[in-house]
Amino acid sequence: MKLSDVDLNDLDLFERHTPHEMFALLRREAPVYWHPESDGPGYWAITKYQDMKWISKNPQLFSSAKMGILRRDPTPESLPLIQNILINMDPPQHRHYRALVNQAFRPRLISCLQPQIRDIVTRIIDGVIERGECDFVEDVAAILPMEVICEMMGVPKEDRRRIYKIGNSMVGHDDPELQEDGVSSDDMEAAEAFGEMFMYADHLMKKAKESPSEDLATALVNAEVEGHKLSEDEFRFFFLLLLVAGNETTRTVTTNGMIALIENPDQLALLEEDPSLVNSAVEEILRYAPAVHSFRRQAMEDTEIRGQKIRADDKLMLWYPSVNRDEEIFADPDRFDVRRRPNDHLAFGIGEHYCLGATLARLELREIFRGIVTRFRDMEMAAPPRRLRSNFINGVKEMRVRFRAEAVAA
Ligand code: HEM
Repeated sequence: MKLSDVDLNDLDLFERHTPHEMFALLRREAPVYWHPESDGPGYWAITKYQDMKWISKNPQLFSSAKMGILRRDPTPESLPLIQNILINMDPPQHRHYRALVNQAFRPRLISCLQPQIRDIVTRIIDGVIERGECDFVEDVAAILPMEVICEMMGVPKEDRRRIYKIGNSMVGHDDPELQEDGVSSDDMEAAEAFGEMFMYADHLMKKAKESPSEDLATALVNAEVEGHKLSEDEFRFFFLLLLVAGNETTRTVTTNGMIALIENPDQLALLEEDPSLVNSAVEEILRYAPAVHSFRRQAMEDTEIRGQKIRADDKLMLWYPSVNRDEEIFADPDRFDVRRRPNDHLAFGIGEHYCLGATLARLELREIFRGIVTRFRDMEMAAPPRRLRSNFINGVKEMRVRFRAEAVAA
């Protein structure tokens, strides 16, 4: 393969597999590579660990707010709207807003959720274990993050299916299958989904104000930093971000982790023999097959990376699957090793925007994989997994698997 073969906008390629061979070539020959685009001005493809770390830690040079964090440019009308979302903010606004929502995501509070998460995992596995076959995505991986975030926010059971569908159409926008009318989303459709989410957020906010409870919605309504509370708009946008950022990502890592374990039976056997390895296994899954392919930054002034001149207003794309396999940081990076240590992957990002839900996601992933390795045996693919057609989310739409129940544990 040559540099001229590199095309990170080829969605057919991403639908087949993450193009690790392209990333390896870029890291080796052009770690700061000007990548042309047919639908945009082109961007710098960032594929090395230390470069992504430096960029993420210097938001004054590389902005999340200026054009948002997705590859496609927002329209001039949508830009001011998306700038209300935490992930699309820069300091000092970002720091202030993040301090408000941090309160509700403190690790101590999150760890209190462990018994509930364990119960949900037990119910999920009980629901499929006797069937011997299921769609791992729909029947196992998708349920936990949605149940947990809806439970935390106080969303009643009957509303969860609808919310999950809207969330899906918002992130899978390159994949026609995920749109309700079968075509790729345009701004109208996105606006409709936004509208529905917002109406639901308003309903939750009203409920939290009128009858406060122990839920996250009430905590967010009451959170206060230096006399400032979340405004109604801020609450709406935060709800939207939580649903989109928390569901799709955790589901994706669960599914990708299962694929890695099925493809590496020696590693699965290690976990089945010693489930206490689950913590390091989850870190390895996050490194090996991260949920997010790429996020964007926009250069705020002329600067340089590895001697390459970057001009003010250039677009940069940070490629997560690549930095997590940087051979300068990880020994034998293409090897899936559930005992890998150290494992300082960047699957949750780094710096200002370090994933707010990382503690929660880790807890969910540890519980679900603990459940999987103790209760399922001989899991195998019943059909090839159907991957999402996207270079944003490293997702899987459907994965039919066969298995048997572990006699003793069940
Ligand atoms: C395995 C699952 C997850 C992965 C791989 C993941 C990944 C990421 C990454 C890479 C970022 C950084 C974005 C950037 O630098 O621009 C991020 C930010 C964020 N994540 Fe996650 N995430 C996961 C789960 C969750 C969950 C469960 C929640 C909430 C319930 C969540 C909420 C957020 C929020 C709110 C931000 C924005 C933080 C900020 O801008 O300050 N994530 N996530």
